[in-house]
Amino acid sequence: MKQQIIMFQLNGEPLEIYADPAESLLAILREKLGLYGTKAGCGKGECGACTVLVDDQAQNSCLIPAGKVQGRRVETIENLSRGDVVHPIQEAFVEKGAVQCGFCSPGMIMSAYALLKSSPQPAPEDVKTAISGNLCRCSGYKQIEEAVLCAGDKMKNRES
Ligand code: FES
Ligand code: FES
Repeated sequence: MKQQIIMFQLNGEPLEIYADPAESLLAILREKLGLYGTKAGCGKGECGACTVLVDDQAQNSCLIPAGKVQGRRVETIENLSRGDVVHPIQEAFVEKGAVQCGFCSPGMIMSAYALLKSSPQPAPEDVKTAISGNLCRCSGYKQIEEAVLCAGDKMKNRES
């Protein structure tokens, strides 16, 4: 398809990019913008490695044509830490041993982030549902679920 200007907010900053609107958001993030934190896994909406937030909703960026984010807010894993200070979700993942090879971690963390934005103190069942589209080949899901619950507590404490 013909290239066009696509405008959206990326990690809090307005962005204009000249791209094919049919190209996936994942390809734009990684190949055009150099944001490699969002992982490219299956490319078919099955693994969740490419999860980003679009208007605060967790989405598989491999399935979203870039033209569809026109005028919307996109957030990637790069937006979570502040300089040397990691986000409480990232801290909790490390503390709970929820990261092994780490390939699934950015997507898992973004799904957790979307959940905790809408539900700061989620029930364990909510956590399971929120990460149900994210596959992990190495760590047990138990550690990941514990990390998300722990992150909710950490975020609450950081605010108070
Ligand atoms: S790379 Fe997008 S869901 Fe697997
Ligand atoms: S930590 Fe390796 S795939 Fe999840």
